[in-house]
Amino acid sequence: MLAIPYQPKNNRYESGMTYNRAGKSGILLPEISLGLWHNFGSVDCFQESINKIHYAFDKGITHFDLANNYGPIYGSAEETFGKIIDQSLRPYRDELFISTKAGYDMWPGPYGNWGSRKYLISSLNQSLHRMKLDYVDLFYSHRYDPNTPLEETMQALVDIVHQGKALYVGISNYPAKVAIEAYKYLEERDVPCLLHQGKYNLFQRIPEEDDLLKETANAGVGYIAFSPLAQGLLTDRYINGIPSDSRIARGGHLKKEQLTTHKLEVIKKLNHLAKKRNQTLAEMAIAWLLNKEEVTSVIIGASSTQQIQDNINALHNTSFSTDELTELDLLTKNIEK
Ligand SMILES: NC(=O)c1ccc[n+]([C@@H]2O[C@H](COP(=O)([O-])OP(=O)(O)OC[C@H]3O[C@@H](n4cnc5c(N)ncnc54)[C@H](OP(=O)(O)O)[C@@H]3O)[C@@H](O)[C@H]2O)c1
Repeated sequence: MLAIPYQPKNNRYESGMTYNRAGKSGILLPEISLGLWHNFGSVDCFQESINKIHYAFDKGITHFDLANNYGPIYGSAEETFGKIIDQSLRPYRDELFISTKAGYDMWPGPYGNWGSRKYLISSLNQSLHRMKLDYVDLFYSHRYDPNTPLEETMQALVDIVHQGKALYVGISNYPAKVAIEAYKYLEERDVPCLLHQGKYNLFQRIPEEDDLLKETANAGVGYIAFSPLAQGLLTDRYINGIPSDSRIARGGHLKKEQLTTHKLEVIKKLNHLAKKRNQTLAEMAIAWLLNKEEVTSVIIGASSTQQIQDNINALHNTSFSTDELTELDLLTKNIEK
């Protein structure tokens, strides 16, 4: 029997997704974006990957975040995405905002890591090939390279835009001080930085503490938060033990040691607080981020369509009383210290 071709839901932009402007740009991003770091590699089930991407698009999620080495194996999340583009999403290419990155370990030898012009440009060429795309919407320098002149990395981003291989550029995981210089370099060359992508969640407060959020907003750059659920810790996933299908048990980047006894106690208290708000803990953790005016979007990861739905439900209530915010700060602010 022939499979019925995918038809996105007609009401995809009326199903409750809201969109925020990225800094002072023309780009609107969904408040919830979907990342392909885990769960979309060659080790994962392709049918589940395609189901999740279709489900997200049907719910108004237009932004999909990738990087050259997402998998495992490296490159395979981009290959999965390229297959989905070919099978179903190509007619909707102009409704999609697709990002990729280079900056971490990708291939052996001196040119497959960090921030050189050679690495960034050749890596993006490879990413486009894997994703079967002519261009990405956004290309990031994935991390700051202290041994490469910042000018070299930034000029590579500028040239990538001039070559038409990316419409916008961004930076990820840059310390605040260097980020400010990067914004300035790019702005002066009329290729403004669209987004800073950083780790930010209830347990990870560095962006607040080193003024990155404030400086980014001042520069007219959007901020997009990754790992909003601390890779699954900020959910009810681990409250009664470590499930066999969880990121910890499957050997992902979340390690058992990160789930300390103290953290588990805090997670239980957070879960209780979320219940009082009529939310799941995952919803509350995402809502807490969306409550911040500097945050353009949060990039969730998901191992099922049900998780995507639960996380989108966060949009139903993103306001917090002062008492709730104080309680959340008291419980979580210093937990990673
Ligand atoms: N720029 C960077 O350096 C960088 C680094 C990391 C991530 N990122 C980006 O951010 C994206 C998201 O990162 P992340 O995967 O760490 O995000 P996350 O949202 O903090 O964690 C996602 C994981 O949490 C669990 N989960 C999600 N929703 C749940 C729910 N409603 N209830 C219970 N458990 C739930 C799932 O784990 P289970 O597998 O256990 O179900 C899921 O795989 C990445 O895909 C990537 O695009 C960027």
